[in-house]
Amino acid sequence: MKLQKRTLDQPNSPIGAHAHLLDDVPADRPLLDLSQGAPGFAPAPEVQERMAAIARHPDGSRYGPIRGLAHLREALLDDLRSTYPGDLSVDDICITAGCNQAFAMVVSAIAAPGDEVVLTVPYYFNHDMWLGLEGISAVYLEPADGLNPTVEEAEALLTDRTRAIVLISPGNPTGNIMTPDRLAEFAAFAARRDIVLLIDETYRSFVPGDGAPHELFTLSAWRDHVVSVHSFSKDLAIPGQRVGAIVGSPDLIVEAAKLIDCVTICPPRMGQEAAHAGLTEAGEWRRSKIADIAAKQARFESVMSTAPGGFTLHSAGAYYGWVEHPFADIATPDVVEALVLEQGILVIPGTAFMRGDTNMLRFSFANIEIDRLDELRERLSDFASTRSDLQT
Ligand SMILES: Cc1ncc(COP(=O)(O)O)c(C=O)c1O
Repeated sequence: MKLQKRTLDQPNSPIGAHAHLLDDVPADRPLLDLSQGAPGFAPAPEVQERMAAIARHPDGSRYGPIRGLAHLREALLDDLRSTYPGDLSVDDICITAGCNQAFAMVVSAIAAPGDEVVLTVPYYFNHDMWLGLEGISAVYLEPADGLNPTVEEAEALLTDRTRAIVLISPGNPTGNIMTPDRLAEFAAFAARRDIVLLIDETYRSFVPGDGAPHELFTLSAWRDHVVSVHSFSKDLAIPGQRVGAIVGSPDLIVEAAKLIDCVTICPPRMGQEAAHAGLTEAGEWRRSKIADIAAKQARFESVMSTAPGGFTLHSAGAYYGWVEHPFADIATPDVVEALVLEQGILVIPGTAFMRGDTNMLRFSFANIEIDRLDELRERLSDFASTRSDLQT
């Protein structure tokens, strides 16, 4: 079959790329799977109950409204209002089949082939892939401080084809959290240059403290330039139910709805009911899981504080740690392969999140039980000691 170049040019998903090696993990080193950012526990009992009830309900498998079930949109509105100050209405909310779909539909509504969208490096690989699939040019912003882009850096990359700049906070793969002030600077910049600030807030529930992740919805004209995309996958532990959301102007949502109609017709009903139960009935469960993941982050940071085996932690937050390995002479995907085969540690190579190789690895510490994180220290040290000849 003749396949088209834009899809052929994209890489396969890095998730699962090492599955073929897993049979060869050493018997005395049971797999430490720190690869995909996915909750390793079942959703709240209330969520499970709702899904069981919906499965049995006579209307439980029908199509629903393109923009999502009204009661979920209202529940998300309440949840957002309890977190973010500002002006938000239910008309600003469109439920999607996950945050990936939200991102894809927004990008396709605002940019055409040949347009440009700025991604901060390291980027989330599906963002980059979607741009490539759509024939939209990704323009890469590499922050001088390694993590936090500045408006000046973004300004230097703008052309008359730029349609949007994408920020992820808390970040994937770095876990880095951008400050409300920095995000406000980007919103002002987007307004000044008449582009879209597209913020991926998949991990918003994991921002520590009581403060709002940002105050962009207080800006009088936020709907002209700010779009925020959301997920229920991580904080409600329902990634396989495929439910997320666009928060943006009603005009944008009209366009996104055309795309959604053609792709999924409506978001999955089961996922929406699961998200509704999670938001309205499982608040305490959600808070306790967020606290558990914060505890895992603290343990992970403690494990990495001595740079075991020369593996150096650059940043951590939400689900992820961004770690530099010490083997400058070995391609990072080969380091990942050796970590699996020699130590039973599975992580994602940093090369999945950028074009080059800067010796970085993504560790998804949220995936495993907290006590297993201690095994990491010893295994990383062992790994390096068997390869000391290659260290630089
Ligand atoms: C930054 C980011 N955006 C979107 C997604 C996808 O979220 P969803 O499961 O809601 O599609 C992920 C999942 O890992 C992510 O890390």
